[in-house]
Amino acid sequence: MTTWNERFETGHAQIDAEHREFFRQLNALKGAVESGAGRERVVDLITILQTYVLGHFAREEAHMARVDCPALQANCAAHRDFALKLEHWLELLTMSGTPVSMLLDVHRESIGWIEAHIINIDCRLRGCVSKGSPHEAGG
Ligand SMILES: [Fe+2]
Repeated sequence: MTTWNERFETGHAQIDAEHREFFRQLNALKGAVESGAGRERVVDLITILQTYVLGHFAREEAHMARVDCPALQANCAAHRDFALKLEHWLELLTMSGTPVSMLLDVHRESIGWIEAHIINIDCRLRGCVSKGSPHEAGG
């Protein structure tokens, strides 16, 4: 089981909490496949993961934009790639011939992606400070 650890800390409490949830959902997916869950259940879990991840990506990109993080463009591009991957995996899994065990490869690839992504891109938030809320901006 892969868990979140301090190496993945971006310095932003909500983003870190969302990354932990991402790991939790991926582990739940793996657990479901290993315990023999049927295709329908697995597709449900990936759909939940997809909804969660897309919301997380949008929130994280908005935060990066707010703090002028230099990793913003790279982050958006990486998020788009991963979102397409998820879409493709869902398509494959809804085809009846695809074995549900393929999900173990999806899990492995997703964990690898998220770990590298957080460390190489999301953690660049560490050096970025908020410029304050729009209400405070004085013109
Ligand atoms: Fe990201």
